[in-house]
Amino acid sequence: MKSFTQILVAATALATQVCATPTLYLAGDSTMALGGGGTGTQGFGEYLKYSFSGINVVNKAVAGRSARSYWNEGKFAALADLVVAGDYVLFEFGHNDGGSLSTTDNNRTDCYGAGSETCISPVTGETVYTYVFYLLQAGRLMTAKGAHVVVASPTPDNPWESGTFSYSSPRFTGYGQTVVTSLGSLAAFVDHGTYVANRFQSLGATAVDAFYPNDHTHTSPAGANVVAGAFMKGLMCGGSALSAYSKNTTSSIAGSCV
Ligand SMILES: *[C@@H]1O[C@H](CO)[C@@H](O)[C@H](O)[C@H]1NC(C)=O
Ligand SMILES: *[C@@H]1O[C@H](CO)[C@@H](O)[C@H](O)[C@H]1NC(C)=O
Repeated sequence: MKSFTQILVAATALATQVCATPTLYLAGDSTMALGGGGTGTQGFGEYLKYSFSGINVVNKAVAGRSARSYWNEGKFAALADLVVAGDYVLFEFGHNDGGSLSTTDNNRTDCYGAGSETCISPVTGETVYTYVFYLLQAGRLMTAKGAHVVVASPTPDNPWESGTFSYSSPRFTGYGQTVVTSLGSLAAFVDHGTYVANRFQSLGATAVDAFYPNDHTHTSPAGANVVAGAFMKGLMCGGSALSAYSKNTTSSIAGSCV
């Protein structure tokens, strides 16, 4: 027969397992990463932390990475080792996933396509898969452990760059939706790119140009804060289970649902 102490220890361990604070891991590129794309810039992942409570936010984004290189470097596998049931992982890639594999290979470009297409790297002979393929296999590692996956479309390059506002969803937006549909009920999609573009349209050219100190991709800390807010708005409007950890109500966050 178990002693009272043994029962108490077992019950406490179970309660800790069930009630432990979950973690939201962030997997992405420089637009999300600590330090952004260099001096004067910051990744939005650093500002997401201020909008959540009751969940730890751990930023594992790394500048320069694509879905392919994050996979090939073992970074998704390392995250899958860390996650436990009830955790969340946010995937946001796209800025480094384009390009051509016809004569060169920067080890980041994915094979073009939304499904099971494959390419052969003309440099290394590696079989290269699609954005959808890499994120789907990464997502399956997470959901197999009972973790939730949120896939987000990439942030826009400065939509006021030409002087006239212009944004159209990149192909990665549809690809991300495809990944979420295939992953099933533990996955949710946030059209982050559209939510940022809409906020940037209403803020106007002068304010938004000032968010891009170096180039048209990487934002200042102030810009990253707005980009993080737009993510929260999209998340809340979409109704992912992760919304439950938002500090703020949907209506208190700037912007409108689309
Ligand atoms: C791509 O990876 C290969 C094999 O690891 C390496 O030899 C090559 O230098 C890399 N290319 C670039 C552009 O980083
Ligand atoms: C939510 O509220 C906190 C303060 O409690 C603030 O720091 C954060 O920026 C807010 N997030 C959004 C998206 O409005």
